[in-house]
Amino acid sequence: MSRAYRVAVVGLGKIGLPLAAQLATKGHTVVGVDINPQVVASVEAGRSHIDGEPGLVEAVRAAADAGRLSATTDTTDATRRSEVAIVIVPLVVGADKKPDYDNLDAALSAVGKGLQRGSLVIVETTLPMGATRKHVAPILESESGLAPGEGFYLAFSPERVYAGRALQDLARYPKIVGGIDAESTRRALEFYQASLDADVRVVANSETAEFAKLAETTYRDVNIALANQLALYGGARGADLKEAFEAANSQPFSHLHRPGIGVGGHCIPVYPHFLLSDSSDGELDLVRIARDVNDGMAARSVRWLDDAVGGLAGKRVLVLGLSYREDVKELSFSTALAVIELLRSAGAIVLAHDPHFSASELAALEVEVVDLEKPLAVDAAIVQAYHREYRDLDWGRLVGLRVVLDGRGALGAAALRSRGIEVISVGQPPAR
Ligand SMILES: NC(=O)c1ccc[n+]([C@@H]2O[C@H](COP(=O)([O-])OP(=O)(O)OC[C@H]3O[C@@H](n4cnc5c(N)ncnc54)[C@H](O)[C@@H]3O)[C@@H](O)[C@H]2O)c1
Repeated sequence: MSRAYRVAVVGLGKIGLPLAAQLATKGHTVVGVDINPQVVASVEAGRSHIDGEPGLVEAVRAAADAGRLSATTDTTDATRRSEVAIVIVPLVVGADKKPDYDNLDAALSAVGKGLQRGSLVIVETTLPMGATRKHVAPILESESGLAPGEGFYLAFSPERVYAGRALQDLARYPKIVGGIDAESTRRALEFYQASLDADVRVVANSETAEFAKLAETTYRDVNIALANQLALYGGARGADLKEAFEAANSQPFSHLHRPGIGVGGHCIPVYPHFLLSDSSDGELDLVRIARDVNDGMAARSVRWLDDAVGGLAGKRVLVLGLSYREDVKELSFSTALAVIELLRSAGAIVLAHDPHFSASELAALEVEVVDLEKPLAVDAAIVQAYHREYRDLDWGRLVGLRVVLDGRGALGAAALRSRGIEVISVGQPPAR
């Protein structure tokens, strides 16, 4: 029988909380840590603060009731009481496109201060290559006075799940594990075998595990850039893009992703920069170009809209869905932010709607947050994130609507066209 561990999970966000709940279901005693006291209060009370994650509300409640999940803001104390500390706080890039370690380092130094001899630290936050050994280990060593691989063990194991089905993915996606040495790998393997139903896949070292995650996410960014360019090319020459992509993907080696007006979130548009920020000239040209292509889609799309409405100045434009993708509450690196900025610079009046956010949560965007329950005068709308709530949207309430930019290729355009509304999308720009 596998053993039960005392585990600290540092970062109780969209990914950390499902992980903490999963560990508790395996009999481990889990202390969740977050710098946000409201998150901690909610988990302490057995409540999930994350919506739209199937099974999570019940799992958090059951874990708390069983006395196997508690929460604190004190990372050092939680680490001191645990045999394993898992770090799952975000690491993103700053305005200079270089990794901004402030957040992660704060978590690591607090973990280091509480490290006990023989403890295992696992970083699940996506890291640049080499960072587990060259960045994480020295912080833990200097804060704890313990030597990596002797006084404590250290492994990297990327989190690969998709927000919105995290518990399901934890049960089925192979868990990649690579330590800074053989003993760290062995201990991390043993821990995950006692924690997950999924296969655990050991790789050569922490660098290999880091690279696997960066390769997987960069593949998706480059694939989307290719899909965008193919859509622009094929659409301009009369192809039905949806049919063409589905037909292409009926060949088992073809896995074309969907074109769209931008790639957002704190993963896919961020991790290629982890690779680029320490690459030499020419080494990763394709990755750089793909990033530029995807980042350029928002400006292209707003130009199409400008053409379609005969100039955006003074026009009322509704952005539907501010999250970076459908059915998730997450604004970071969302294409919506670029789109709003571009619309504003073109002189449009920007209206916005997202069922996941309250008006006060969107206050910083300085847009007019609207209610779709009553008639609303608009000239154009942009489907930025096609949340499930929009499937039943009564487009008739958008009075004066002339053009819809379907940024995700999600709409059945025929119904809108039959109302005399022009529908444009990537590869299907305005007819003029
Ligand atoms: N969101 C995804 O779809 C996804 C998918 C796969 C992997 N990941 C990985 O998971 C990481 C976390 O993503 P997320 O979606 O859970 O983020 P999130 O923003 O939902 O949550 C992060 C949590 O960490 C807390 N936090 C920040 N700094 C902290 C610190 N110093 N100490 C303790 N807590 C701290 C925040 O308060 C927040 O509650 C990502 O950076 C990525 O590496 C995310």
